[in-house]
Amino acid sequence: MREGTAALIRREDYVAPAYWIRTVDLTFDLDPAKTLVTSKMKVERNAAVPHGPLRLHGEELNLLRVLIDGESVSFRQEGHELIIESAPDADFSLEIRNTCAPEKNTSLSGLYTSGGGFFTQCEAEGFRRITYFLDRPDVMAVYTVTLRADKAKYPVLLSNGNLLETADLDNGRHLAKWHDPFPKPSYLFALVAADLVSREQRIRTRAGKDHLLQVYVRRGDLEKTEHAMNSLVASIVWDEARFGLPLDLERFMVVGVSDFNMGAMENKGLNIFNTSALLASPATATDADFSRIESIVAHEYFHNWTGNRVTCRDWFQLSLKEGLTVFRDQEFSMDMAATPSARAVCRIQDVRQLRAVQFPEDSGAMAHPVRPDSYVEINNFYTPTVYEKGSEVVRMYQTLVGRKGFEAGIKLYFERHDGQAVTCDDFAAAIADANPGSALSTRLEAFKRWYAQSGTPRVQARGSYDAAAQTFTLTLKQHNPATAGQPGKLPQVIPVTMGLLSREGQVLPLQLQGEAAPVGTERVLVLDEAEQTFVFTGVATEPVPSLLRGFSAPVVLDDGLSDAELLVLLKHDADAFNRWEASQRLALNRILQAVRTGEALVLDTDYLEAMRAVLRDPQLDAAFKELALTLPGEGYVAEQLDVVDPQEIHAAVEAAYQQLAAALADDWAAAYEAHQVKAGYEPSPVQSGQRALANLALSMLVLHATRTGDTVWPGRAYQRFKDATNMTERLGALAALVNAHAELAEPALQRFHALFKHEALVVDKWFALQARASEDGGKTFARVKQLLQHPDFTLKNPNRARSLLASLCMFNPAAFHRSDAAGYVLWAEQVLLLDGINPQLAGRVARAMDRWTVLAEPYRSAAREAIARVAAKPELSNDVREIVERALASDGSAA
Ligand code: TRP
Ligand code: ZN
Repeated sequence: MREGTAALIRREDYVAPAYWIRTVDLTFDLDPAKTLVTSKMKVERNAAVPHGPLRLHGEELNLLRVLIDGESVSFRQEGHELIIESAPDADFSLEIRNTCAPEKNTSLSGLYTSGGGFFTQCEAEGFRRITYFLDRPDVMAVYTVTLRADKAKYPVLLSNGNLLETADLDNGRHLAKWHDPFPKPSYLFALVAADLVSREQRIRTRAGKDHLLQVYVRRGDLEKTEHAMNSLVASIVWDEARFGLPLDLERFMVVGVSDFNMGAMENKGLNIFNTSALLASPATATDADFSRIESIVAHEYFHNWTGNRVTCRDWFQLSLKEGLTVFRDQEFSMDMAATPSARAVCRIQDVRQLRAVQFPEDSGAMAHPVRPDSYVEINNFYTPTVYEKGSEVVRMYQTLVGRKGFEAGIKLYFERHDGQAVTCDDFAAAIADANPGSALSTRLEAFKRWYAQSGTPRVQARGSYDAAAQTFTLTLKQHNPATAGQPGKLPQVIPVTMGLLSREGQVLPLQLQGEAAPVGTERVLVLDEAEQTFVFTGVATEPVPSLLRGFSAPVVLDDGLSDAELLVLLKHDADAFNRWEASQRLALNRILQAVRTGEALVLDTDYLEAMRAVLRDPQLDAAFKELALTLPGEGYVAEQLDVVDPQEIHAAVEAAYQQLAAALADDWAAAYEAHQVKAGYEPSPVQSGQRALANLALSMLVLHATRTGDTVWPGRAYQRFKDATNMTERLGALAALVNAHAELAEPALQRFHALFKHEALVVDKWFALQARASEDGGKTFARVKQLLQHPDFTLKNPNRARSLLASLCMFNPAAFHRSDAAGYVLWAEQVLLLDGINPQLAGRVARAMDRWTVLAEPYRSAAREAIARVAAKPELSNDVREIVERALASDGSAA
């Protein structure tokens, strides 16, 4: 728990540090109870700023001594700072000795123990929990690290860079000495001391250099590292091929740890991973896990250039590395998927995720720009806005300057800034300067509003056709709604990739007024004013506009298209993303109609027949069918409404699923049979698409059967659950039973637990599946309450804590939002408990209440009361305090 007051840190207050630390020589005498840290630094005054005291950060440390140039020096400690008033003007050496207590460190920030080993997590501000330092990303130093530890307990000793030396010591201890030649900020420091084994592979880069790749895990997990290693090799090859960025270290290490706050961390040459983002075998991991692992391995590897070689000047620039690196990992996943339709599936999944988590964030209490202006606790700003919206901003650069132009921009960025700590403005300037005269460079200042303005822009599009003149006039308007702390906004630069189709589905050539001839069949319109009109000429027939293809900007589009027009797009659009989008819009219109009028939802034949046609279409991939036939999530539906009653939304979506299940029953059965994978397991796009569709079909069939009292499909699902040879099919069958509340769910859940009780990551799935189960009269909530008491449940392990708490509070709105407020009571209680253990994680769970102000009564008042109860606790962490105070402040605000 942090002490002291929660100060607001502002972007505009940035000042360069008064001192630089050029080199650090660290020695660790590792002991779980008391680890001794000796740090010898070469320090230099920063002549560019006025002479002042040297102020070092330190938290939860026990200071033993401070020497300057070998002499003791007077200092004082104030809050979390060690202050030396009389630091020399000339270069000097600084030696600090302190201890810390890794086994008491449950926050998983700094140096901590997990599974009997030592691990570190220093981003964003964990290094100050290891030793006193200028713990800010613009202070970059060359590190040499000596680790000393018991050899039997900790045979593997790792740190960043290259191994210089190993030796045996007295008392059964040993040492390893590492040197990282690249200057780096303290947040990229890492060490590992544990009993691990490694999978190794050598790789030769284009320059002909050999590199050693290692994936370190606990002894029993080695066979689950093959996929991660393959992903790493593919990432290295891709970054060289696509961006000309090679691996710059002789050795690249990846380590798995089961207690970890996020997915993974890009420490230079020593990436540390949550085991959930690293380990996979067909028997224990789903297709979704395989693809998540591929993208996280890639993400961390890509940080080696975008984040490590060029880093952030300050934490407000976080999206400089995160938005760019998410963009790179998304591009990588698409290139790995290879075929156009598999690429579209990647894009659809990314957009679905953005809408499910970032759009709500952008209209709630925590709304913030991609480059925030202030924060209390930086850990609270590792958000979907900084990551996923940040990636969309990078994608828009590429859309505006083209793929080649973007690659030239990246090249210039590294030419200018390699080895530096820079800002989002520096990135923007590099891309623009490499593309003079482009659609980006001519409106760069306006484009940069994407960094400054929070909120999701609304774009309205209306077309009118003049048959006599053969013109189609498209009017685009943008509206940028007020968000928490930002009442007024300016127009943004919105690239709208588009095409026109005839009513019969043919592509039409595109010629804008003033052009001599048509230019292609797809183009990018740039909307940069509140309202703009685009006139297409030579349009022989009334067209259907296909707008925002590939989701070319992170906006909400109201295109005013009728069902008939959406059906044309669903059938014929050249853009697979917009075909999917049409399927979702058709479903959403019907669900919203029911919720808004309070009338029972009825799916009409037009819609059902269109869905049947999708299911039967031999040209479409299974993966695409699964995405088109999956209804919009309840959270996404809630986003469309000004007042949200989670129970009503759930009832409408449930009814839609039941009708889809009933009306297409025969087609679901046929699709199930037709998409059985007979070949050996591969996490490929084709196989995983087949399994996804078979799983959806099975869940529809079980759902329908449960309503009609038929026992055949539940029986088949149980059989499949028992006989499955991979986790995707096993979990799919189990979910079908659990979500339909079929009788066989109970024995299946018991059997699943018995089978996998020694596989922590699978036990997480077991908890999560139950907490996410489709709500049925309070059963799910009651079950979660029971599971909180299960011997396997603990708040100390983040994956396990999330498996119940995030699943219920963030992903199961109908089970969480109860008229008796029991969900909110549980939330408050668990957030407070978690805050005493792991504030970072507590802050995440606290965010379940971000959107409380839009709730209907009685939910709204009960939610406010629960938030106020948490806020009233005097000893909260900064993490939770910032979240609950912002939540309370959003009452009556724009959100
Ligand atoms: N930089 C990491 C990534 O995106 C994120 C991360 C890992 C992190 N662990 C963290 C951020 C702990 C804050 C705190 O790849
Ligand atoms: Zn990252």
